[in-house]
Amino acid sequence: MVLHRAKDYNDMSRKAANVISAKVILKPDSVLGLATGSTPEGTYKQLIEWYKKGDIDFSQTKAVNLDEYKGLSKEDEQSYAWFMKTKLFEHININLENTYIPNGLAENEEAECTRYDKLIKDLGGVDLQLLGIGTNGHIGFNEPNEFFQKGTHCVKLTDETINMNSRFFESMDLVPKYAYSMGIQTIMGAKSILLIASGKAKANALYETVYGNIRPSVPGTILQLHPDVTIIADEEALSVIKEKGLLK
Ligand code: GLP
Repeated sequence: MVLHRAKDYNDMSRKAANVISAKVILKPDSVLGLATGSTPEGTYKQLIEWYKKGDIDFSQTKAVNLDEYKGLSKEDEQSYAWFMKTKLFEHININLENTYIPNGLAENEEAECTRYDKLIKDLGGVDLQLLGIGTNGHIGFNEPNEFFQKGTHCVKLTDETINMNSRFFESMDLVPKYAYSMGIQTIMGAKSILLIASGKAKANALYETVYGNIRPSVPGTILQLHPDVTIIADEEALSVIKEKGLLK
């Protein structure tokens, strides 16, 4: 793991966008593993700006997303499909047919998970996986568990995650309680991983992810076993690591 310090959210976003754009420039037909949430929004804004300036070309790029809420259609404004469309895809020249996300309305859960795993395999796996981190250390929607889930699965979200996600919904009742998520094996199969973290709320999860024992109760800790993980975190997200004297 290589830890890079960013001053603040904007600095983190620019640095992360630099890593992603370098990947796309060096390998235009890259398979990007993409994430949702408030953390990557700034990164996507920066990528759009550079695309508009003519600095990046996404025409050959493929994108496969980490997760999607169960029960939401891709036209639902709260779905991750909608998030990706409005925050990134419709502003760049990626071919929408080359963008993939689990189908929240799939009738058969198991078949949907198998389909998604096969799809990622058929794409040749993920070249660069972008990750945020949950306050409880979840990656994608791999929630704290007794074991690491391997493939795509349907997960019951924890109360902590439901609470965190409720800020995007009008009422608590509307927050989905289940989601589809890429599994840990798929995430770990990415050739390289870029994890971004911003704000004090992530400081403990980030400390555990980088220095904690590797355990499924803090899913992010598994990333310590990946050979190519870049972390870009701002000063607030690094605060616990700094308090423990592990970074000056
Ligand atoms: C959600 C997503 C994760 C994301 C996490 C953190 O649960 N499934 O992929 O990393 O939230 O979100 P945020 O970036 O908004 O803090």
